[in-house]
Amino acid sequence: MDAHVYVSGDADLITAKGDGGHGVMDYHLQELAIANDPSDRRRIMPNLEETDRRILDVGCGAGQTLIGSAPLPEVLAVGVDSDHSALKLGTQLTDAVCFVAARGESLPFGNESFDLVISRVALPYMNVSNALNEISRVLRAGGRIWLVLHPFERTLKELMSNLVRFEIKAGIYRLWVLTNGVTLHLFGKQWMWTLKPGKYESFQTSGAVRRLLPAAGFERIEITRGQHFVVTAVKGRPRV
Ligand SMILES: C[S@@+](CC[C@H](N)C(=O)[O-])C[C@H]1O[C@@H](n2cnc3c(N)ncnc32)[C@H](O)[C@@H]1O
Repeated sequence: MDAHVYVSGDADLITAKGDGGHGVMDYHLQELAIANDPSDRRRIMPNLEETDRRILDVGCGAGQTLIGSAPLPEVLAVGVDSDHSALKLGTQLTDAVCFVAARGESLPFGNESFDLVISRVALPYMNVSNALNEISRVLRAGGRIWLVLHPFERTLKELMSNLVRFEIKAGIYRLWVLTNGVTLHLFGKQWMWTLKPGKYESFQTSGAVRRLLPAAGFERIEITRGQHFVVTAVKGRPRV
């Protein structure tokens, strides 16, 4: 285990070297540069409030969103990712984030451990329903979520790009992503990619979000569809 990276959960499903080597690391560094540049139009960050004393980023990569959000030093900032090499890069970038290797569908934290849970373009790679249930479990009642998701148009564009370039394997994979988005929208269900245990990917719709979030205990759902597909919601308090 690397210093500052705590490994937990389904060890077999946590990638030791990452999925794409240098390309993936370049992605995280590029996103960090965007996160650190308030003038960059691609930048999208959660609004931190004074009550957010314990923040969890699910699918944090190298911690770029947490780093760019610049929480106060007394705030506990925890980043979870299944890609060990991304977390290792994160430990080289900052001391302000506690990095934990785990899957979003199986978070190694107690109930109600966090005030705010964020997840930026990472839920699309998870079993969305299971991850939302876990996020709800580790969030305190009244705590908030901030999610950035993948719209249908993105997957369609990727599929079209595969087709015009005759990228057969990538096209089949993208068709599977498309199917998962449709079944997530209609039935709240997704299928694992059979060639890689534990691998999920889908696009999301506002309809799916409005059905899945209340089922996981969230209310006051707000959806913004513009340059980014952003969802915020609050964990409901237990009824007495
Ligand atoms: C597109 S990157 C986003 C990284 C970062 N949140 C950002 O905004 O740049 C998606 C991240 O989700 C992670 N991821 C994918 N599936 C995951 C899972 N089941 N559990 C935890 N992390 C996962 C990947 O390793 C990757 O770092």
